[in-house]
Amino acid sequence: MTQPAALTFGALDIDTLAEVTGRIGVIVDEDAKLDIGARRINKLMRGALKGFVESDAFAKMNAGEVRVLHAPLGLIAEAVIVLRLPKRPESGTARKAGAALAKIRGKGAMTVLTAGRTRIEDLALGIALRGYAFTDHKSDPEAGPEGAVHMVVSAPEAAEAAYADKLAQAEGVFFTRDLVNAPANVLTTTKFADDLAALSVHGLDVDVMEEAELEDLGMGSLLCVGQGSDSPSKVVVMKWMGGEKDTAPLALVGKGVVFDTGGISLKPAAGMEDMTMDMGGAGVVAGVMKTLALRKARANVVGLVGLVENMPSGNATRPGDVVTSMKGDTIEVINTDAEGRLVLADVLWYAQETFKPAAVIDLATLTGAIIIGLGHDNAGVFSNDDRFCADLLKAAASENEGAWRMPLGSSYDALLKSRIADMKNIGGRPAGSITAAQFLQRFIKEGTPWAHIDIAGVASISKGTDLSPAGATGWGVRTLDRLVADVYETKD
Ligand code: BES
Ligand code: MN
Ligand code: ZN
Repeated sequence: MTQPAALTFGALDIDTLAEVTGRIGVIVDEDAKLDIGARRINKLMRGALKGFVESDAFAKMNAGEVRVLHAPLGLIAEAVIVLRLPKRPESGTARKAGAALAKIRGKGAMTVLTAGRTRIEDLALGIALRGYAFTDHKSDPEAGPEGAVHMVVSAPEAAEAAYADKLAQAEGVFFTRDLVNAPANVLTTTKFADDLAALSVHGLDVDVMEEAELEDLGMGSLLCVGQGSDSPSKVVVMKWMGGEKDTAPLALVGKGVVFDTGGISLKPAAGMEDMTMDMGGAGVVAGVMKTLALRKARANVVGLVGLVENMPSGNATRPGDVVTSMKGDTIEVINTDAEGRLVLADVLWYAQETFKPAAVIDLATLTGAIIIGLGHDNAGVFSNDDRFCADLLKAAASENEGAWRMPLGSSYDALLKSRIADMKNIGGRPAGSITAAQFLQRFIKEGTPWAHIDIAGVASISKGTDLSPAGATGWGVRTLDRLVADVYETKD
């Protein structure tokens, strides 16, 4: 499991600066004034730091940007990294600044002189999140974990306490990224369920339901997806009951297709390898649950994931097959590649029947069409409840995770009409993401606030973002953790 870089906090001891190894981060404001630590560094460097911060090069730097001064004279450190940051940065700026440090810090240790800045915990979160690297399958030991980070601050204990909740977020995000990056021969449904069961060490109550139990429950929709695979289908329920005893929980439901070949409606070969990330929704649910447990959130939240593999075989579901969902509605499977909604239908229904949740959010890499609509910058959000949706979008905005509301409507729903069953599993090419959402809404009970988040475009991307390297991003862990903190947590 990938862990965030070890990060410690301590007070300034200017007499040790000459001996600090690795890299030293120095924070300077737009007024180019050096604080006491930076002044000592400057003295040891015989004025080279001051020379730089009074140069045009520094004047042209934006808030949150970094420049490296290599092989600094008078220091043992291999480099001084100058970071430009205002005295009271916004949380987003502080995180981006931390990420900028992480990007260029190299493998060695890093000491950051934070010069009285506020939001040190956000700076540290940025360092942690952007420092992620998925090295499980690299044989080069150089690919190993990064060196420790030491933050020099005026109030070490307060900074450490403020960072605790952020570290919980970072660990949740790392868990999600590890799961989403894992290849499908490694992360089978069984391995995935085992990894989730292991979360019980953090105080989560985890229950793994096997195929026989799912059959007894009548989950014909979910089970038809995994039918062609040698890996057994499973539903895993993770409970965190940190809130008031009788408060209805928030339910988080995730699509966990460990590999999506398309089934008999086989996908084209080019790019099919990307479908290892088709369990991204389940990965986010798992990451959020881990974060909530690590920071002992005072809220009731249940996470449910449907784990299946969509493979073609002599036993696979055929186009034209009719299956019966746990709800009782029958579904004509026109396209076996529209499998995510078949999985979610049963897990959504089970979640509502079992937990009578206050609200339901599902996350899924559900449609290619959402990527055509929104690209890789925004997840698509669908909801039957304006207030609930506004809370969710606000949480996403606070965390700088792109989210954009999409419409629902009965005219879209009409596209799912089947001649022989209660519905078809696809609505045709137009509005493909919306008809997918309409399909899901058929499995949401009247009066239950619900949001569906299509994360196909944001779960894993080929270029790095501000806070994530290329590959799995962990999009949504911070948004949902924030939503829980803002709306569902018991306050004193
Ligand atoms: N897992 C895919 C959606 C997807 C596409 C996720 C690209 C990430 C990147 C989903 O199961 C799927 O195959 N959807 C089909 C639906 C269609 C058959 C109605 C699609 O989007 O083409
Ligand atoms: Mn598919
Ligand atoms: Zn899929």
